[in-house]
Amino acid sequence: MSLEPAALLDALRSAVGPAQVLTDPDLRASYESDWTRRWQGEAAAVVRPGSTEEVAAVFRACVAAGAVVVPQGGNTGLVGGSVPRAVSWKPQVVLSTLRLRDLEEVDPLAGEVTVGAGVTLAALHAHAGAAGYGFGVDLAARDSATVGGMIATNAGGIHVLRHGMMRAQLVGIEAVLADGTVLRRLPGLVKDNTGYNLASLLAGSEGTLAVVTRARLRLTPLLARRVVALLGIANSSDAVELAGELQRKLPSLSAVELFFDDGLQLVLEHAGGEPPFREVHPAYLLVEAEAAEDPTHALAAVVQAAGDLVRDAVLASDQAGRERLWRLRERHTEAISALGVAHKLDVGLPAAALAAFVGAVRQRVERVAPGSRTFIYGHACEGNLHLGIIGPPPDDETVDDAVLRLTIEMGGTVSAEHGIGIAKTAWLEADRGAADVAAMRAIKSALDPHGILNPGVLFALS
Ligand code: FAD
Ligand code: MLT
Ligand code: ZN
Repeated sequence: MSLEPAALLDALRSAVGPAQVLTDPDLRASYESDWTRRWQGEAAAVVRPGSTEEVAAVFRACVAAGAVVVPQGGNTGLVGGSVPRAVSWKPQVVLSTLRLRDLEEVDPLAGEVTVGAGVTLAALHAHAGAAGYGFGVDLAARDSATVGGMIATNAGGIHVLRHGMMRAQLVGIEAVLADGTVLRRLPGLVKDNTGYNLASLLAGSEGTLAVVTRARLRLTPLLARRVVALLGIANSSDAVELAGELQRKLPSLSAVELFFDDGLQLVLEHAGGEPPFREVHPAYLLVEAEAAEDPTHALAAVVQAAGDLVRDAVLASDQAGRERLWRLRERHTEAISALGVAHKLDVGLPAAALAAFVGAVRQRVERVAPGSRTFIYGHACEGNLHLGIIGPPPDDETVDDAVLRLTIEMGGTVSAEHGIGIAKTAWLEADRGAADVAAMRAIKSALDPHGILNPGVLFALS
């Protein structure tokens, strides 16, 4: 059955209240275009449920109307999965989770907390911090990215080498299936082997299987002392070797981020600030160590022992100094975006292939898109490189294809942390293989037989 558009809107209004159904184009606009400006589409409405029950009611209204649901948190995703598709035969309803922002009390005995899907990462850090805990995942979009979006994308970020990705922080989940059924398992049992782990399955499912409404999360010790170093390096293979040394020798290591001189210059032009060194270096590693006692000496000792691998170093243990160094890495994304609509790639390579990839990929890009600008940066210990390529028109995928084929040839993955979204569906099977993709499709049809949830994400619309 399919309802008239007016009937869909009436059903949504009775599900969440008229004030939470946005139909005015000006009010819908920020929900309809993604952070990269590469993807946008038109929604019949944006709905903002305030409870799990209201999320279930939205699904029932959409099923009755033959509409599809695009879940959205902070809309900071980088693969186009959080906004309506440009072409759709069915009305698209954006389901915003931003009103699901309950912060329950931290459980001090278990070191866990249950929070709503719409809670931002920054609010979660502040809440955990006030109770003497930390949270294991952090990333530059912290002020907007939500817990639900981070679960749905299995977000990584800067502390994966120490605490793992978002999936590793999950102790329980509450989520709503496309038919309105509520899955709820939030007791905070660290050991729980009662069959399929649905929280793990939903991590990385990109809004295609269910809408996450609440999560029970593992917290980490809040370590009082931190030091950040920026190291000037001769080339990517020295950077990879040094990242390995740091991991082996520095137990307090919490981040190792890689970038290159062209990216550093761009950030300085875009955001201002002084160059960190008198001399220019081809590559840089930003290293952070965190411990209960000051880790500065331990970090300095490993850097010194690294000899010629480090050409120059600057250290900061005060907050302003640490933030100044972090900005040089974290502002890459916005500095590139200020140049134009970038082709953003997020590849993962085996450690042994990383340095060769950096050289080879620049050549491949130059071959298929001569004159374009390629910025490379990322999370060194996980072999996770981000590429921001400026030049080719947004809808020309030649350059994406060249980079992703090379990645697969070199034993890597086409998405290390951002997900497939609508941006990378064409390369999913080349990466995962036909058997994996068939198993994923079987899970999708079992949980969402009518294809209500985020059609076009993970699997291309046919
Ligand atoms: P959205 O963008 O709203 O949605 C992302 C996906 O999740 C969509 O497919 C959407 O449909 C789905 N979704 C959202 N909420 C729910 C829900 N409650 N239930 C089910 N599905 C849902 N990512 C990293 O991994 N590491 C980084 O270091 C990193 N740094 C970034 C830095 C910047 C400056 C920016 C702009 C982005 C960065 N990202 C990074 C990408 C982005 O922040 C993450 O993917 C984040 O997890 C998205 O959260 P969100 O709430 O904004 O989700
Ligand atoms: C990062 O690590 O900076 C992010 O994942 C965002 C990006 O790829 O630009
Ligand atoms: Zn990243």
